[in-house]
Amino acid sequence: MYDFRPDAAQAPAERYRELLGAADALTADEPDAVANMANVAALLREFLPDLNWAGFYRIAPAKRENASELVLGPFVGRPACIRIPLGSGVCGAAAQSGTTQLVANVHAFPGHIACDAASRSELVVPVLRDGQVIAVIDCDSPSPARFTQADAEGIEALAALLATRI
Ligand code: SME
Repeated sequence: MYDFRPDAAQAPAERYRELLGAADALTADEPDAVANMANVAALLREFLPDLNWAGFYRIAPAKRENASELVLGPFVGRPACIRIPLGSGVCGAAAQSGTTQLVANVHAFPGHIACDAASRSELVVPVLRDGQVIAVIDCDSPSPARFTQADAEGIEALAALLATRI
């Protein structure tokens, strides 16, 4: 139905320009957050080479305490941890600090949560709406140091686009 064909040789800036264009086209007129996150997770797999997991964790009420935690959202990849406390692992660090986490070696990150044992490097970008973290976008790779500053900036632009659409 949608046939995006990213060019394997393209430079990161061009790759992210096309990814953002596709994400904008798919989410602009759709108010359903789950549909939008699902399509964007699929786009991350189509556009970004060498990923083993990509998707969303949302800030949601914790099951038992009167608090918030990260809860698994739409993704592509193997089944993953469902709930992550704020401050825990790479995703929890991004959610708690509101800042991008670019991790070249996940085994060297204190408290890293190994949902998929294949993951070696990771990029987690918070999605902020009105200054509050509402979700994170998590990209994992089986290759060490897969993600660059260009990837961080590209996913940050995607997070900004999605702030009012998820
Ligand atoms: N590794 C992550 C957990 C999420 S999964 O990789 C999908 C972390 O430490 O936050």
